[in-house]
Amino acid sequence: MKYFTSVNDIGNLQQAINEAKSLKNNPFAFEHLGKKKMLALVFFNPSLRTRMSTQKAAFHLGLDCMILNAFNDSWTIETKDGIIMDGKAGEHIKEAVPVIAQYCDIIGIRAFANLQDRDEDYNEILLNSFKKYCDIPIISLESSIRHPLQSFADIITIEEQKVVNKPKIVLTWAPHPKALPQAVPNSFTEWMKKASVELDYEFIITHPKGYDLADEFYSNCTIIHNQDEALEGADFVYAKNWSSYTEYGQILSKDTSWTINTHKMALTNNAKFMHCLPVRRNMIVTDDVLDSSQSIVIQQAKNRIYSAQTVLKRILESM
Ligand code: CP
Repeated sequence: MKYFTSVNDIGNLQQAINEAKSLKNNPFAFEHLGKKKMLALVFFNPSLRTRMSTQKAAFHLGLDCMILNAFNDSWTIETKDGIIMDGKAGEHIKEAVPVIAQYCDIIGIRAFANLQDRDEDYNEILLNSFKKYCDIPIISLESSIRHPLQSFADIITIEEQKVVNKPKIVLTWAPHPKALPQAVPNSFTEWMKKASVELDYEFIITHPKGYDLADEFYSNCTIIHNQDEALEGADFVYAKNWSSYTEYGQILSKDTSWTINTHKMALTNNAKFMHCLPVRRNMIVTDDVLDSSQSIVIQQAKNRIYSAQTVLKRILESM
């Protein structure tokens, strides 16, 4: 593996899940692999889980790790070609990326959507510039349109927690005060589509009208606009807010009747509640659901270590 930027890089899901579970049982089994190698984590946006879980994964593999908080510690980086740099940006991506690559063996990069220019976001400009301007392995720590390490951790968690052979998984939109990117629902959807084929999952998306995802993710999905109907018999409820794709970056609804509460959970098959975190309490989900034994958000966060470790291990093995 050289790149991990989407579900297309993971291969057979069951094999990847088994590998992650094996690392969870014996985290230091491959600590020789990363010795004398350096991982750089470059963050253009804040992070708690991604930063700490990837560092922990690196530690298990004997990798050293350096972190650049590019959003406030570094120079503002220009990505446009041929531009006269007389504005805010002090460094061009054409120098920044190859320089970072001099200092490390693998780069992880987080670069969120700006929610201003849909084409720019959906072309994953920053992530692809890292691929273009250096020749070392690249891991997405959440791009403008995908969060594959999160989705991999989510699927590991579902496999650990499922009590039926064909679990029904419902991705539900929920309200939020700010406009959020579509990266998590896009990514979760593409991983669930693969899981529907390879692991026999049933996958349903529910959201208010106007919150359709981009076709490349949304096509061939079952969509139910009535949230209560969608939640009936669910084994897993994955709540997430996202802003509109069609009216790009806009908040079309803050309807709190979409908040996940005990009445919503009562419609399910004693479902487990999932969210990638951070989560807005009593907007996305009520305290009594999040604080209940049905919530598996902490287990999800723990599995971020093993999704990252599986990916880093595969990269190190192919170097
Ligand atoms: N879920 C997730 O990626 O969390 P952070 O933004 O804190 O890294």
